[in-house]
Amino acid sequence: MKSLKGTLQVPGDKSISHRALIFAALSRGVCKVYGLSPAFDCVSSTDCLKQVGVQFERRTAADNGRREGALLIKSPGLDGLTAPNSMLFAGNSGTTIRLLSGLLAGRPFRSELDGDDSLRRRPMSRVLKPLSSMGAKISYLQNENYPPFAIEGGNLQGTTFDLPQASAQVQTALLLAGLQADGRTVVKVPKPVRDHTSRMFKYIGVPFEAEGDTMVSVSRLENPIEPFTLDVPADISSAAFFMVAAACLPGSEILFTNLALNPGRDLVLQVLKEMGANIEIVDTRELCGEPIADILVTGGKLNGSALIEADRLASGIDEIPVLALAAALSQGVLEVRDAAELRVKESDRLAAIVNNLRAAGADLEESSDGFVVRGKGRLPGGSEWQALDDHRMAMTGLIANLASDQSISVDNDLCVSVSYPDFVQDLKRLSH
Ligand code: S3P
Repeated sequence: MKSLKGTLQVPGDKSISHRALIFAALSRGVCKVYGLSPAFDCVSSTDCLKQVGVQFERRTAADNGRREGALLIKSPGLDGLTAPNSMLFAGNSGTTIRLLSGLLAGRPFRSELDGDDSLRRRPMSRVLKPLSSMGAKISYLQNENYPPFAIEGGNLQGTTFDLPQASAQVQTALLLAGLQADGRTVVKVPKPVRDHTSRMFKYIGVPFEAEGDTMVSVSRLENPIEPFTLDVPADISSAAFFMVAAACLPGSEILFTNLALNPGRDLVLQVLKEMGANIEIVDTRELCGEPIADILVTGGKLNGSALIEADRLASGIDEIPVLALAAALSQGVLEVRDAAELRVKESDRLAAIVNNLRAAGADLEESSDGFVVRGKGRLPGGSEWQALDDHRMAMTGLIANLASDQSISVDNDLCVSVSYPDFVQDLKRLSH
């Protein structure tokens, strides 16, 4: 069993990066974004935006002492966006296809959107049904509820939505449509979700109102916002794999720098602490409206138990696979409930977690909307790990291999680039 040691600044936050790229379309002029995520998912957002008239230029040299070269985003303003000549291809990215649907629902032209095989299995009616109730014309081009589909936008009417899912993607898509609609658009979610959208609205000057942590409303954006400059902090969802590794592998110590610590994303820290992990938040501060911190995680024995259910599931929805691995390695019990949403992520993650960890010798029980892991304090391994072309399953498998008694071979780890292209290099660099 190896240990991991060193300082790690993981790539820029993917959720914040998508928003920076897409919200730049609300301005007219040149926005500057530093530290944008190199994830293939964000490249999908950039590629789609190019097709509707947004231009991008990468500055490689550092400017004015900033930590990285900027991406310049030149937007013609909402009114200047133009109909795409061909299908907008969102690749593997649910955030791209859903947020762009909201943006394009307000534009008076036809757009067609599609994605890869995994995205073609992910439900879209959660976004498209409310958008059509606002006045957008939606047609499914193959199968009802799934990509590819077409949107003919324009003439939207503000509406009040009480969403059944605690989804930041759906909330954000409807707010983007609401900024182009007559009257007020109110979006309520059943439980708090990551609030990157309202934080960025505030930072870049988009008017909105929030009530508590479950309701946001907007009206038509009468004038383009001023072009903005934004720094993207490091992605806690990418750091989560290394946090679990550092917490479970004795002798490990990783300092995570400039990490985004949005209260709607910190379940991984909460649960690892409940399991008994050594986690020290070294320095909290703010970056462009988002709380960030440096965090030190040191290895030890995990023996605590945790329960994850609806009240806090959204704050770690992408971290459940790697938390299940932490539980398998611990001497505690992790129970996950109310998580049927995981069945419609990049893969059916409930089945993928249970099948892969069981094959590696862990003790799990699956239910329709969750699972229970009874940790054995070790993972026997000696198995093959099916990543199912799902980046977060692949990275969980690579960490499982590091922590297991016998090796675990991940069938295909190329998909890690969907969120973290340098994952394997970073893992090698920190391994001792
Ligand atoms: C995201 C929200 C979450 C998350 C996804 C990114 C976002 O999806 O799983 O990786 O950037 O808003 P849901 O909103 O569908 O839960």
